[in-house]
Amino acid sequence: MKNVHELKTLKQEGRKISMITCYDAITGRIVDQSDVDVVLVGDSLAMVLHGFDSTIHATEEMMVLHTAAVARSVHKKLIVADLPFLSFRKGVPHALDAAAALLRAGAHAVKLEGVRGHEDVVRALVESGIPVMGHLGLTPQSALQLGGHKVQGRLQEEATQIEADSLLLEKLGCFAIVLECIPSEVARHVSSKLSIPSIGIGAGLDVDGQVLVMHDMLGLQMSFKPKFLRRFAEVEPLLLVAFNDFARSVRESQFPSKEESYGA
Ligand code: KIV
Repeated sequence: MKNVHELKTLKQEGRKISMITCYDAITGRIVDQSDVDVVLVGDSLAMVLHGFDSTIHATEEMMVLHTAAVARSVHKKLIVADLPFLSFRKGVPHALDAAAALLRAGAHAVKLEGVRGHEDVVRALVESGIPVMGHLGLTPQSALQLGGHKVQGRLQEEATQIEADSLLLEKLGCFAIVLECIPSEVARHVSSKLSIPSIGIGAGLDVDGQVLVMHDMLGLQMSFKPKFLRRFAEVEPLLLVAFNDFARSVRESQFPSKEESYGA
């Protein structure tokens, strides 16, 4: 799938959408062979790849670098790339430049968090022919203001705001919206009001699709286990076994073998 309009068709058909984050060419190659529908070059790369404690450390340069790496190996999937912290809050010309850089790096669409205060940017991106995915609920770039990575929409006024913002994003021309860490009932209600797909993370089952951070769903960081996360593999202990096996083989002069060495 490379066409954003196909996502809407999937919603109409009641076929759920799967999206996974990806930040490099080698995992991109594997995702490209999989049944996953959409690849997200998320600004979560600042945390999972670069070791920062929040996504505000993702820069436009980092997003372009990783989007280009993914695009070198992902040829069959829709690639969405995050507009990072503040890149869409410096006015329309800057946002257009940031989005253009991501598209030139190989993305087919951009994602941005929130809508209030940058409605003009969403409109300008869409009117410029750039497919835009929204992101509401827990918006990690605003975690400092939200008081941490907390569930949003538990209060009625918050739920009403998420619904209003979703409808506004749809009206502005977004092709899909990520709903992050909101009560399932709120996500179900919002999704039923939207004609574009909602893609949930920590938003329950009654949305039109699910997204997970690749490194979390692979269990590459076993100490990280938020309530919504399901690990579809447990890779961290496997890697540890392999690294220790290598270290022991070197120490005991069991590696390399004759077959793994060059003759004269
Ligand atoms: O950056 C990211 O990985 C995301 C997902 C959590 C939706 O925005």
